Amino acid sequence: MNQTPVIFSGIKATGKMHIGNYLGAVKNWVTLQNSGDYQTIYSIVDLHSLTIDIGKEELLANTGDMTIDLLATGIDPKKSILFIQSQVKEHAELAWVFNCILPVSELEKMTQFKDKAKRHKDNVNMGLFDYPALMAADILLYHATAVPIGDDQDQHVELTRKVARKFNNRWGEYFQEPQTILTKIPRLMALNDPAKKMSKDLGPKSYIALSDTPDEIRDKIAKAVTDTGGGKNAVGGKNLIDLFEAFVDDDNIAAKFKGDYKNGQLQYSTFKPMLANVIISALKPIQEKRKELAKNSDYVASVLKEGAEKARTMAEKTMREVREKIGLL
Ligand code: AMP
Ligand code: TRP
Repeated sequence: MNQTPVIFSGIKATGKMHIGNYLGAVKNWVTLQNSGDYQTIYSIVDLHSLTIDIGKEELLANTGDMTIDLLATGIDPKKSILFIQSQVKEHAELAWVFNCILPVSELEKMTQFKDKAKRHKDNVNMGLFDYPALMAADILLYHATAVPIGDDQDQHVELTRKVARKFNNRWGEYFQEPQTILTKIPRLMALNDPAKKMSKDLGPKSYIALSDTPDEIRDKIAKAVTDTGGGKNAVGGKNLIDLFEAFVDDDNIAAKFKGDYKNGQLQYSTFKPMLANVIISALKPIQEKRKELAKNSDYVASVLKEGAEKARTMAEKTMREVREKIGLL
């Protein structure tokens, strides 16, 4: 029996990777991978991306870009399995089984569904509603016991635990219940609207993409909404302090700015340019690696091919066992 605990996580191919994705999840994926304590499996979840209205060319381009972003941040195919979700058809197959044990009433409670249904009234499709069934399949296919994510996805992992329990109650003990792993920044707020989560949905002014140029970064930080005087934007200043702490090497400077912020004495005219510089230098090595990878499409394709093969072997085994347990011939 495989004793190494499995970690699984996924990211949608709906745009560029931003620092919210990075600090909330992906940086942790790399740390967990490098700890050597886990079998780490990471997926670009293109089937989930279909729940929004995305064209063929855009989906293909995003999938490619996201692969490069992940490799540039330090996902190492020698240590982790990196693959595209739709290349392993067992994800959709197991999601169907979960569809048949997931109560509609549970899906109706999902905040992400309610938010997205409100924002995209013209495209409230079944996939959007059923999104957590596919996510549960992603996780349980590999018997993952831990899932590193931002806190917006915690409710889905909680539902995954329910799915595992329901499956086990009906067909016998089989799936383990996975736990969430959060980072110190589980919810980075939007730069232009700190009351909301930084998100691809809110447009490029809300986020800093890993591939943004130094000028774009300086401009976005300069325009970031702050308000030390309280009110709903008060969180904007805290958000920038969190960013500084996450990216700077020198803890003393971070502590000083944090102290100033707490005392209401933070000078944004000094702090913001420094923050921009800290982010620019932290992203530089990632951007250099990105450029190199972009020139090497054969290598990237071979990583994905190998990743899909490894993931498929594991997923096929699970599906064989599931079919046997539930009485599918
Ligand atoms: P997505 O781009 O929605 O597929 O998200 C990929 C990962 O990034 C998930 O684990 C999310 O929870 C995480 N994430 C997305 N936005 C943020 C944010 N603003 N702060 C922290 N984590 C985030
Ligand atoms: N729903 C996640 C998000 O929007 C992406 C995702 C899909 C995922 N399947 C997953 C995350 C499995 C963790 C585990 O960010």
